[in-house]
Amino acid sequence: MNSDIKEVLYTREDIKNIAEKIGSQLTKDYAGKNPLVICVLKGAFLFMADVVREIKTYAEIDFMDVSSYGDGTESTGEIKIIKDLDVPVEGRNILIVEDIIDTGRTLNCLVALFEHRKVASVKICTLLDKPDRREKTVKPDYVGFKVPNEFVVGYGLDYQGFYRNLPYVGILKPEIYKNN
Ligand code: XMP
Ligand code: MG
Repeated sequence: MNSDIKEVLYTREDIKNIAEKIGSQLTKDYAGKNPLVICVLKGAFLFMADVVREIKTYAEIDFMDVSSYGDGTESTGEIKIIKDLDVPVEGRNILIVEDIIDTGRTLNCLVALFEHRKVASVKICTLLDKPDRREKTVKPDYVGFKVPNEFVVGYGLDYQGFYRNLPYVGILKPEIYKNN
C-alpha cells in the first residue's frame, strides 16, 4: 500500500464486482436505446473503462473535461468546459459516468447543460457518492459506493494530480494535504 494512504476503502476486486453489477443493470435499462456514455475526465477514466466493458448492448462513448470556476479550493457552481463532446446530443439518451459526487455542483451544472441541449434522457452513474456534503440537488441513478466525508484518492481520483494510478480507493492521510 502507498504510505500516504491511511486506509483502503475499496479494492480493485470490490470495484470490479460493482462495475459488473452496474453494467448488467445498464444492459437491461439501455437495451434498444443506443446510449451515449460520457466519461467526465479525468477522474472517471478507470471506472468508465470497467463499466462500459460490462454493457452488453449498443453504446457509444465520448469524453468531456470540465472544471469548476473558482479560487481553486471552492467552486462557484459554474463550470468551464475544457473539452466538449465530439457529437451532438439532441434526442440522445445520455449516461454520465463520474468518479465522485461531492457538493453536487459539477453534476448539477452538467445535467442542466444537457437538458438545455434537449437530450431525450440523462442519467448519472458514479463510482462514489459523498451525500453528507451535498449542496446542490443531484440524484445519481447508479452508485458504486457511498463514502464518508473524508478525502479519498485512487482509481482515477487525485490529489494535485497524483494517486490516480492506485488500483484501489483509499483515504489520503490528512497530513499530506493539510500543510498545502
Ligand atoms: P462536486 O463538489 O461538484 O465535485 O460534486 C465533484 C468533484 O470534486 C472532486 N472531489 C474529490 N476528489 N477526492 C478526490 O480526489 C475526494 O474525496 C473528492 N471530493 C470531491 C472530484 O474532482 C469530483 O469530480
Ligand atoms: Mg472529477
